[in-house]
Amino acid sequence: MNDTNQNWAEKTIEAIEKKLYRVSRRSLEIIPYTTKDGRFDDMTKENICWWTNGFWGGIMWQLFSCSGKNIYKTLAIRNEEKLDANLLNPYGMDHDSGFKWLPTAVAHYKLDGNDKSFQRALLAAENLAGRFNVTGNYIRAWNDNNDGTNAGTAIIDCMMNLPLLYWASEVTLDPRFSQIAIRHADMAQKYFIRENGSAIHIGVFDPVTGEFIHSVGGQGYAKGSSWTRGQAWAIYGFALSAHYTGNKKYLETAKRVADYFIDQMNKRNDMGIPIDFSQPPDCKREDSSAAAIAACGLLELGKTDKKYKDAALQLLEFLCKNRLCLDEDKDYLLEKCADSFHSDKEQMTLIYGDYFLIEALLKLSGNDFPIFNP
Ligand code: GLY
Repeated sequence: MNDTNQNWAEKTIEAIEKKLYRVSRRSLEIIPYTTKDGRFDDMTKENICWWTNGFWGGIMWQLFSCSGKNIYKTLAIRNEEKLDANLLNPYGMDHDSGFKWLPTAVAHYKLDGNDKSFQRALLAAENLAGRFNVTGNYIRAWNDNNDGTNAGTAIIDCMMNLPLLYWASEVTLDPRFSQIAIRHADMAQKYFIRENGSAIHIGVFDPVTGEFIHSVGGQGYAKGSSWTRGQAWAIYGFALSAHYTGNKKYLETAKRVADYFIDQMNKRNDMGIPIDFSQPPDCKREDSSAAAIAACGLLELGKTDKKYKDAALQLLEFLCKNRLCLDEDKDYLLEKCADSFHSDKEQMTLIYGDYFLIEALLKLSGNDFPIFNP
């Protein structure tokens, strides 16, 4: 890693930590998702089962790892404990267990071997494995009201939940978990990645025969379009599957999606990443969270190919110069995120945008804190 980039990343993390120290001291009891007038909301009361409820805890562990300040550890554990209400609610357990328990319980267990954290994480992994559809070879994404509406639905985002299964196999020496992750990754490689390297968001299967029926535009612009956060989940998700399994075909898939992403970046005059690469050219809405997640995936690929590291740097330099808010009176880090193209919110802040920005900077600084990767 080039020293200049490493120093720049370290300095940026220092500035972020300084700001978030103040922010965390006024955010002692919350699990934030977004902000209103610059201040965090609280999903503890709003919806404890929301898919992003592990990222605040993850940010706290990241900051604990680089500063050693106890407040971060306390808040991370508080977040983990609050998620028990989700763990005990079968209707609130969906495929996003990786997003919720990797940055909380697994991170905690990896740091100090905490037994309660181990139990939480393993229970979440068992639940995730139980969502596997054996004829379609996919992990079911969402729940429904027991009417089967979502029984055949899988989404590209789930690639990021597979590390919970790989972790479970590692700690239990039971290959069932990783076998399920591998089957899901193979399915996603077959049905979710298009000829040109872009990824679909939602795949719909016949849940009885397992037959792939069609794709849906989901949070992107339209059917057939390229939702940028979905591309980012695919790059990072396949890179992580390659990392855990050692299987080069996943690395090749991650690189194909990354090549598509870089090609789209280079075609634009503007470095802000749109919500969807196929959105109308006059639509200037962006998704900085997609840029931060893509940077994490590109840095993984950049370990063996400089082209990807350079692309990650381009994204991070743009984000830190133009989209990073270091004003200590505002709770968020990244501006101009988007939950979905057809959202009623023009632009918003998103806690996972902040989380993956820190993750990318930690990778760049050489102080990688292992949450999604071992
Ligand atoms: N996993 C849902 C999203 O990326 O919005």
